[in-house]
Amino acid sequence: MTNRTRSPRYIVQGGAPLRGSVRVAGAKNHALAAMCAALLTDEDIVLTNVPEITDVDSLSELLTSLGAIVEFLSPGRLRINAGNVTTFEAPTELISENRASFQVMGPLLSRHGYASSAPPGGDVIGQRPIDVHLSGFELMGATVSRNGERFVARAPGGPGSLHGGRVFMDYPSVSGTQNVMMAAALARGRTTIVNAATEPEVQELAHLLNAMGARIEGIGSQLVEVEGVRHLHGATARVMPDRIEAGTFAIAAAMTGGDVEILEAPVPVLDALLAKLRVAGVQIEQGETTLRISRNGDLRAVSFQALPYPGLATDLHAPMAALLTQANGVSIIHERVFDNRMLYVGELRKMGAEIVSTGSSAIVSGPTELHGASVRALDVRAGAAVLLAALVAQGTTVIDDISHMDRGYEHLHERLQALGAQVERT
Ligand code: UD1
Repeated sequence: MTNRTRSPRYIVQGGAPLRGSVRVAGAKNHALAAMCAALLTDEDIVLTNVPEITDVDSLSELLTSLGAIVEFLSPGRLRINAGNVTTFEAPTELISENRASFQVMGPLLSRHGYASSAPPGGDVIGQRPIDVHLSGFELMGATVSRNGERFVARAPGGPGSLHGGRVFMDYPSVSGTQNVMMAAALARGRTTIVNAATEPEVQELAHLLNAMGARIEGIGSQLVEVEGVRHLHGATARVMPDRIEAGTFAIAAAMTGGDVEILEAPVPVLDALLAKLRVAGVQIEQGETTLRISRNGDLRAVSFQALPYPGLATDLHAPMAALLTQANGVSIIHERVFDNRMLYVGELRKMGAEIVSTGSSAIVSGPTELHGASVRALDVRAGAAVLLAALVAQGTTVIDDISHMDRGYEHLHERLQALGAQVERT
C-alpha cells in the first residue's frame, strides 16, 4: 500500500477586495540558512520568529537525522544543538525536499572535515546547478568527488583544516554565498568572496555568524571578507520578516482593489517592488515597519526585470505577472535569475490571462477578465500567482498541488480569509 495522499487544494471564489491588516511571518530563506549555521557549533542556536512552513519541517528532519537536537521551545522559537552530530552524510530523501538543505555541506565540511550529499531538491525553476558551492569548497582546499549521485567533500587534513582563499562566484548565488561563508567561518586564514550575493537573507546569516564569534566584513557588499576562527559559540537570532510574503500581500491588496495594512514588513528591502507598484498606480503609505497598500483607480502596465538583490526579486516575478493581467496596457517581464521560471504562464492562461512567454521573457496584455478554472500550484511562487489571479477571477478556481505553497507561505489561506478573501482549503 502506498502512502500517497492527495495534496490539499484551495477553492477560491473571486471578487472580494482584501481589507484589514496582516502580520508578515519570518523569512523562509533566512530561517533555513540560520538552521544550517547551527551545525557550526556545539552550543545552542536559538531562533525566534521561525515561520510555520514545511521547508522548516523538512530541514529540521534533516538536521535531526545528522544527530542534532531540533526542538520548538514555543511557537516560532526553535532551539538547535549540534553538539552530537555523528553523521556527515545527508540522507538523499531529505536533501531532495528543498534547496536550502545543501547548505549543511559547508558547515559539516569545515567543522568535521567531511560532508556528503545528493544534489539538492527544491522548486523546478531551472537547472539550479551547485558548481559555485563546490568550486568554493575546492578553493578552500577541499577535494570534491562523486560517489554515484552523491557529492563527497573532504577537507585536506580532517576537521578544521580548510584554508582561506579567494573565491570568485561565477554567479552571485544566494545559497552558494551562504555555504561558502559558513565554510570560511571556521577555515584557517582569510577568505575573500568576490561577486557575493547581497540578498538581505545572506546579510542576516552573516550577522548571525558574527554573533557566534565569526569575523565577517563587507556584509551586504559583493566583496565579503571572512577571517576564519577556531571556534564558534551559541547565539540567539530573530528571523527577519519575509520580504516575499510581504510583497505577495502587497500585490494581493493592489490586485483586488483593496486596502491592507501590512505589519512587521521589511520595508527597507522592498524598494524595487514598491517602486514598480507606485508606477502601476498603487497607493502606498510606508512607515518604518508597516505598509498600507490600497488602490482606487485603474492599474497601469509596467515592465520589469527579475534580478539579484536589490533588483526586483525573482520570487515576486510570478505574483507580479498575475497583477499585470489586471493592468491597462502591455507589460514586458524579463527573468534574469532562473532559466525556467515561466511555468505559471500556462496556468494563468487557463484562467483567461493574455500572457505569452518566450524563453525567459513574458508579455502580458491587460486588463483581462479572469475566470475560474482548475489549475495547479506548480511551484511555491507559481502557486501564489494563480491564487492571486483566483482572488479577482469571476467564479470558482480550484488550485491543486498547494503543498508546494506550504513550503514557503505560513497559513496562507487563513490569513487571506481574515482579510476577506473567500478561500477554502480541502
Ligand atoms: C535562493 C532562494 C530562492 C530564491 C533565489 C534567488 C533559498 C533557500 N532559496 O535560491 O528562494 O529564488 O535564492 O533569489 O535561499 N547558480 C549557478 N551555480 C550555482 C548556484 C546557482 O549557476 O552553483 C545559478 C542558478 O542556476 C540560478 C541562479 O544562480 O540561475 C540563482 O540561484 P541561487 O542564487 O543559488 O538561488 P538559490 O540559493 O537556489
